[in-house]
This record gives sequence, C-alpha cells and structure tokens, in this order.
Amino acid sequence: MLLQIPDVLSPEQVASARQQLDATDWVNGKVTAGHQSSRAKDNMQVPEDHPVARQLGDVILHALQRNALFIAAALPLRVFPPLFNRYTGGQSFGNHVDNAVRQVTGTPHRIRTDLSATLFFTGPGEYDGGELMVEDTYGVHSVKLPAGHLVLYPSTSLHHVRPVTRGARVCSFFWIQSMVRDDGERTLLFDLDAAIQDVSRDAPEHPAAVQLTGVYHNLLRRWADV
Ligand code: NI
Repeated sequence: MLLQIPDVLSPEQVASARQQLDATDWVNGKVTAGHQSSRAKDNMQVPEDHPVARQLGDVILHALQRNALFIAAALPLRVFPPLFNRYTGGQSFGNHVDNAVRQVTGTPHRIRTDLSATLFFTGPGEYDGGELMVEDTYGVHSVKLPAGHLVLYPSTSLHHVRPVTRGARVCSFFWIQSMVRDDGERTLLFDLDAAIQDVSRDAPEHPAAVQLTGVYHNLLRRWADV
C-alpha cells in the first residue's frame, strides 16, 4: 500500500527546519547507500550524526507518535532515525530497492525495513522534476507532495527519484520496521481499522462494532511480532 499522510509537520515546523537545513554542511549521499544503489544515487545528505539531523529527526519522530493515520497504517515497531537529502542541478536517484536490514549507526540495533517514508520539506512549486516514482503491481506511481506531507510505501518496491532540473528538493527519508511484516496483512488491518472507525461513528451502539474490534485485535495478535 502506498499512502500519503498530510500535515505531519506544521508550516512553522517546516520553515524552522528549512532554516536549519539551509545552514548545514551537506555531504555526498553515497555515504548511506548500499553497494548497488551507490551507483544510482546522486544527491547530498546531512551526515547521520549531525546535531541538526538528530534534532530535526526527533521533531519528526515526535510528530509521528501523535499521528493516528501513520500509526494505523505502519503499525510501527521501530523507526530508523530520519535522514535528510537534497537534490539540485539535475541530481537524481536511479531505480533501486532499499536495503532490507539497516544498522542504526553507533548502536547495536538493526531494523528490518518494511516501509519506506519520504517527508517533503520543499513544496512542488519550488523545483521542477524530483518526483518519487514507486512501482507496484498496479503500475508506477508519481509522488510529489506539499511541504510537511509524507508518503509511506512498501520497502519491497522498486523506486527512483527523477532529476531535479530547477530549484532544490529537500526531504527527510527513513524506514519503519512494522509489527506486521507482510504488506498485505498490514493493509487488511488498516482497511478493517478504517471500517471500524466508520461503524463506531455512525452506529456507536451496534454490537458489530465490538465484534469487529475483536476481530482486528485477534488478527493483530496472530500477525504481530513485537
Ligand atoms: Ni530508496
């Protein structure tokens, strides 16, 4: 499932982050790429251990913890500390699949990448190109979102970023290990959750609301690794 999550960050949070990012030293993005993707990758990044990256990463993680749509869709177990990238002057990232397992730098922790996330810090009018193109069984999806919005997609997907031919595209990107590894199972739970919320709102006294909630939790119990 590919899902857009609007307004993860407020315009004020985005503006403040942009100021900090603009004043930061950027390095070649190949530093966090795997062997194969390093050949396809042409962008700049904030170093993983840079204080600005860690501080803004915490702002993002805090926002995600309070975002009901993100929680329902990702069922997060662990979230990789957010990284930051910038594409300018024709830079792009060719087709690739993200590494399956990532070490959290400076810690003994690893996460399995079930979901990939991109959070936009620049709006669509600020640059040309730069679309995130994500392939799934339904075709190729082009994603270019307003600043503060996030896209979530299965890390199993082939994807690329088209060349940025004007302006700059600044984003955060990171990965989520979900309690539910399988995208199909996770999507079923997300759809069921949405239906339960509809029933609970429109017919709060209906006994089916309790029964469906029970089914949700019993499926989650069956599928979750925690
Ligand atoms: Ni990628």
